[in-house]
This record gives sequence, structure tokens and C-alpha cells, in this order.
Amino acid sequence: MSTKYTELIDKIAIENNATKDEIIEVITSHENDNYLFDKANEVRQRIYGKDVYLRGLIEFTNHCKNNCLYCGIRGENRNVERYRLTKSEILECCETGYKLGFRTFVLQGGEDLFYTDDMLCDIISAIKTKHPDCAITLSLGERSSDSYKMLHEAGADRYLLRHETANPEHYLKLHPEGMSLKTRIDCLWELREIGFQVGAGFMVGSPYQTVENLAEDLLFLKEFNPHMVGIGPFIPHKDTPFKDFEQGSLRDTLVMVALTRLLLPYVLLPSTTALGTINHQGRELGLKAGANVVMPNLSPTRYRKHYALYDNKICTGDEAAECRACLERRVVSAGFEIITTRGDSKVQ
Ligand code: 5AD
Ligand code: FES
Repeated sequence: MSTKYTELIDKIAIENNATKDEIIEVITSHENDNYLFDKANEVRQRIYGKDVYLRGLIEFTNHCKNNCLYCGIRGENRNVERYRLTKSEILECCETGYKLGFRTFVLQGGEDLFYTDDMLCDIISAIKTKHPDCAITLSLGERSSDSYKMLHEAGADRYLLRHETANPEHYLKLHPEGMSLKTRIDCLWELREIGFQVGAGFMVGSPYQTVENLAEDLLFLKEFNPHMVGIGPFIPHKDTPFKDFEQGSLRDTLVMVALTRLLLPYVLLPSTTALGTINHQGRELGLKAGANVVMPNLSPTRYRKHYALYDNKICTGDEAAECRACLERRVVSAGFEIITTRGDSKVQ
């Protein structure tokens, strides 16, 4: 291992900063990834110790008006059996989750106009009334700033909206006409302005992505400084225009997770389901490369397989309790422990 490489990693870890060229050098050098992963683990241990936060994911609708070229639940995919959870089904998921120790519920769905602002606010305030000690995270895509404001006032605490790629031309290749990186970034800034804890993020190995693009993603994250970052490999879905593209690699995804930890030491960084889908030890490896959040699925089992953003998604057959137990075993086997508090970001 050359000292030049280790010095570069040390420098990025100390300064929590890197130039585009430096990031590209780390991604393209296959010298000793373990040095990078260990460094990221060290930084995360310094701030969060062995703690891993739990988020209960509730995939409450797979209807979507959008047509992102990579996504299995894109509106034009006629092979999806569409479903929507009622308010009482969502509350039931939260009840089950609460008993299992979850103190954050993530309501995720496609961009589904069926749920008006009023309906969403009603659901959010009902969850908050029943579980005032829990945080609510939303992942509902792009909405107007008035809508974001209403949702925040109703009690939602956090919002996940991956930027998907920080390069505007690359963004156009992943999305249909009418969607733009600018709108996405405007949404992210509005969410932050309104007072949400905000999550951005991207896919690794998405079609047409270059090493430069990956460096741009990290530079964008450094600039935006989100509370949360979601990173997972791109995985093709058989009913999408990207069905014949290759999936993102485990190694590249782990490198991006680790670099994110070095650039944003305090960030809440999940070891994603997509990472667990491309490798049976993917989520454990993610935790060892700097991730500190896991998101077991709380959606009712009967709907799980219909929320297929990509092929071969794991956890589609498991009950909430099984998913929770499975992840706990994995977290412990990687040398960490699950914490059942809200798990807010350590910087606001
Ligand atoms: N492969 C991997 N991740 C995907 N997502 C959507 N489709 C895919 C896919 N085919 C991710 C996107 C989105 C998040 C909810 O899931 O990054 O923001
Ligand atoms: Fe639903 Fe992209 S297809 S947000």
C-alpha cells in the first residue's frame, strides 16, 4: 500500500473535505479499500460509537405518476399490481413497529395524487397523537413548498428526497422529460428552510454514470450538508427501460458510503436494502464502511412484493418482527448494537 494513498485518506478524514480530483483518485485506486473502510468506521465510532439507529419503513403506496427510467413502480409499468394503505392500516403498522422498539416511522410512497395534503396531515397527526415520542420521516417525492409546510406543521420531522445524481445532464438521462435536477435541488433547499431534517442521496452504478459524476455527488453532499444520506447500488428492474443495464458494484457503493462518512462525519447514513440485495453480507459491510442506520420493513407482508423498485429485492416475505430480528442479528454480528431511540442527527 503506498503512503500516498493512505496519506490522502488520512487528509480527507482530518479535513472532512476533498477536491474532485482527490475523490476520483480514491474511487479509481483499488489499492487498499480496507484502509478507507476502516477509517470511515473509526470516524463513525468516534461520533456515534457502536450505535445503529432503527427506522421502520412503511411503503404505503406504489402508485406513481412519475416515470423515472430506473424505477420498477414507474407509472407506465402496467405489470405492477397497485395498492394503497388506508389510514388505519398505516396506524396498525406503526403500532406493530412501536411494540418492536421502533421510534421512527418512514412513510414512503410513489408520487401518488390520491393522498391529498389534508389526508397526509391527518395520517401524520394521528401517528403523532398515538406515538408522541416517535419521529416521522416522509419520502414522497417532489411537492409544492406549501404542501411541504403543511406536512411539517402536521408533525413530520424529516424528509428523504434523493437527488439521484448531481450532474444535470446525467439527471436528464435517468428521468423523463419534464423532470430536472434544478427542481429536485429546489425542493431539497425548501425542505431544509421549512425546518425538516433532510436526506439526499444517489444510486451507484446507474446507467451512464461516470466516475466524475460520483465525485460530483459527493461534492454536492458536502455543499448541501444534509442530515441524512441514502446510497445504494442501481439494480435493474425487468419492466423498465434500464432492464439491460448492469447493476452497481458492491465495492463502488461501499467506497461512496465510506467517503460520505469522511466528508460528513455526523451524517445519518443507512446501510440500504439495495446493498443487501446485491450481496448477502452487503448491509453488514455497509455498517463496517461507515453506515449507522438500518431500515427494516414494516409494510404489511401481503403488499411487500408489489413495492419492487428493482428486481430480487430482499425482505419481501418477512413479517415485521422477522425483519427486525434478522437485522438485529446482522448488526450485532458486524460488531454494533441497535438503539431504540428516535436517533436524531447529532448536529442540527
Ligand atoms: N435500483 C436501485 N435503487 C432504486 N431506486 C429506485 N429505483 C431503483 C433501482 N432500480 C431508489 C431511488 C429512489 C429510492 C426510493 O429508491 O434512488 O430515490
Ligand atoms: Fe416513482 Fe420515480 S417512478 S418517483
